[in-house]
Amino acid sequence: MGIRFVATAGSVRPGNFTSKALALAVDEIRKREVEIEVIDLSRVHLSLPGLPPAEGALRIRRLISDATGAILATPEYHGSYSSVIKLFIENLGFPSVLAGKPVALLGVAAGQIGAVKALEHLRGVCSHVGAIVLPAVVSVAGVQKLFDESGRCLDPATEKNIRGLATSMLDYVHNNVCARVAMEEFVRSGSTEWMKHWADSPGGNRPSRPA
Ligand SMILES: Cc1cc2nc3c(=O)[nH]c(=O)nc-3n(C[C@H](O)[C@H](O)[C@H](O)COP(=O)(O)O)c2cc1C
Repeated sequence: MGIRFVATAGSVRPGNFTSKALALAVDEIRKREVEIEVIDLSRVHLSLPGLPPAEGALRIRRLISDATGAILATPEYHGSYSSVIKLFIENLGFPSVLAGKPVALLGVAAGQIGAVKALEHLRGVCSHVGAIVLPAVVSVAGVQKLFDESGRCLDPATEKNIRGLATSMLDYVHNNVCARVAMEEFVRSGSTEWMKHWADSPGGNRPSRPA
């Protein structure tokens, strides 16, 4: 299966800024002709934690299971990430289908401190469930002044940062996931050619052979 991502925004407020910011990262991924599906959480029926999973929960679990990685965007709400994002995470199963997946985090806030607390808390929870949180999170402060009604970003530096989050995800996948997947496919194909290349390669990652 090819590289494909899932993205979601933790605000269901009509006209919310979290989705506007996330749309830039999604656009950057699509510009590079990589598939990304955006889950609109205002349209997904999720279960409260501990109750049997609703159809929406099963659907997002499948999407994340099949995805190479995810971009999670959250608003800063009351000094943390939104309960919508928490509910999304709760619906990903226990153990979580996010485990082992690279996750890029984006936070937006009306306040001048930005979404620093939201991102710290979200990083902790994502790491706790076993996701590989990319180090370069992006926090956007004063977000309501940075986007117009149509979702156009009015600040080039902010746009660059958000698009950079998408490229850091692509770089991570390129450097860490693609090589592994290619090697697994090669090995499964039954070809022994890779062993010759590996044995002939100078140093690198080649472990030393027993005497
Ligand atoms: C319930 C709630 C709590 C909020 N708490 C904070 C906060 O603690 N710090 C802050 O900077 N902005 C706070 N805001 C403002 C949001 O950051 C602001 O609405 C921003 O646009 C991101 O949310 P949105 O994606 O829903 O637009 C809060 C908004 C709501 C609705």
